Amino acid sequence: MATTTEKAVPLTQLSGWKALDSHYQKIKDVHLRSLFADDAKRGERLTAEAVGIYLDYSKNRITDETLKLLLQLAEESGLRERIDAMFSGEKINITENRAVLHVALRAPKGEKILVDGKDVVPEVHAVLDAMSAFADRVRSGAWTGHTGKRIKNVINIGIGGSDLGPVMAYEALKHYSKRDMVFRFVSNVDGTDFAEATVDLDPEETLFIISSKTFTTLETMTNAHTAREWSLKKLGDEKAVAKHFVAVSTNAAEVSKFGIDTANMFGFWDWVGGRYSMDSAIGLSTMLAVGPDNFRKLLAGFHDMDEHFRTAPFAKNLPVLMGLLSVWYNDFFDAQTVAVLPYEQYLKRFPAYLQQLTMESNGKHVTLSGEHVEYETGPIFWGEPGTNGQHSFYQLIHQGTKLIPCDFIGFGKTLNPLGDHHDLLMANVFAQGEALAFGKTPEQVKAEGTPDWLVPHRVFEGNRPSNTILVETLTPEVLGKLVALYEHSVFTQGAIWQIDSFDQWGVELGKVLAKTIISELEGKAEHKHDSSTGALIARYKKLKG
Ligand code: F6P
Repeated sequence: MATTTEKAVPLTQLSGWKALDSHYQKIKDVHLRSLFADDAKRGERLTAEAVGIYLDYSKNRITDETLKLLLQLAEESGLRERIDAMFSGEKINITENRAVLHVALRAPKGEKILVDGKDVVPEVHAVLDAMSAFADRVRSGAWTGHTGKRIKNVINIGIGGSDLGPVMAYEALKHYSKRDMVFRFVSNVDGTDFAEATVDLDPEETLFIISSKTFTTLETMTNAHTAREWSLKKLGDEKAVAKHFVAVSTNAAEVSKFGIDTANMFGFWDWVGGRYSMDSAIGLSTMLAVGPDNFRKLLAGFHDMDEHFRTAPFAKNLPVLMGLLSVWYNDFFDAQTVAVLPYEQYLKRFPAYLQQLTMESNGKHVTLSGEHVEYETGPIFWGEPGTNGQHSFYQLIHQGTKLIPCDFIGFGKTLNPLGDHHDLLMANVFAQGEALAFGKTPEQVKAEGTPDWLVPHRVFEGNRPSNTILVETLTPEVLGKLVALYEHSVFTQGAIWQIDSFDQWGVELGKVLAKTIISELEGKAEHKHDSSTGALIARYKKLKG
């Protein structure tokens, strides 16, 4: 079982994997048309429902045998043991020697989760209570700025997991947000990001949340210093920092070095990965926007999905099924990407959020024991909210040469009932799934009176797989469930691939090289580079004058 650096039985040697390999040869050309024709109940049978989330996975290129083998692979991969190891606080992030306990962030009071013999749940709730008290003060106007004005604007400064979760959650839950406050998010070190976010704001009414697990990230610290200058330029007094800056971090020493009183710091722990942190204090902007009660509902939603993942048999386990299907396409069909297509405008940042969650987690090329993998790991995630994508990249999904499994996400009820908009929106979800799976044969195209020469262009081969996730309404609870669904699907995939889904060494090299180059751009040092990089730096220096 792969929770340590001990060499596990290689994935490709597992009997489930070998059986899937030969099964793939038999099934690879079977069309969804015949799978559906042979089983009138397939669309009802190949579904699973839990915690209010309905997953139709019938439009996947699988048979009962495929499922059986995928589930066998999950068992043989030690997925059960790995889930138990995560929930019990074992240090499964082996390259950083850390526990992986985002599930503790949403554990109800009274639950016990031990890290190094210490129950972490009381600390989680202490931070949540402090966040709630602060959020109530800001939202009610009891917390004022340095000049006594009410805080109307909140700007979260952070990047990666300290930005994508907060932005996504703010957009997703905008319907529940305090509309008389402005929420903005600055992440990019490109000064335009900060300039545009603050262009129409008054520093007297603006609160900055500096969100950084390490409090050393170049982009965030640069933006934080710029924010301090921007504030102090108007407010004039260093003391103003205490009223206009709070920090979310695990690094108290750096927070006070920056000048933020650690009384205004909301902490979290090294067992929370950046991309798994939106429900920690990193979610402070979310809580300020939607209020503590809604934030706790979000956490309750996460927890419901955690419990489902932890306890449900794999054959009915939503994240496990989704994770296994992803492995099936990634490793046997050689699919390179997955498209996530939420038919819900409020989820417009969900694909971007999932890109970090999935690709930073499973973009790995060695196993836990350090061997180069002999199979493909994490696919590329991408997507846009429907129906916009239909008028852009769906052409390639329907008629291109690449296999792109799609996840459609739709809701029974809209939060903004407007005429027949919602029916039109949802008709498109169902139509896309149907068109991708079943396509249009040359015979059907001809029967429409299409001239022979045009027929090939108008044929839809079909057999393009998709999942459809249907939920009643987008609420804070549901958002928590959806995010946890993908978190645990990523976990499932990582467990099968025997990789460490919780480190991110791949971002380091670029950071280090950039530091060296900065000193050159500032004329403080000269370094040797390859001829391309050297010439680009020289040209840039000329251009900037
Ligand atoms: O991109 C690397 C990374 O470490 C992410 O994992 C993380 O979410 C992001 O940088 C931000 O890090 P921090 O919260 O420490 O500023």
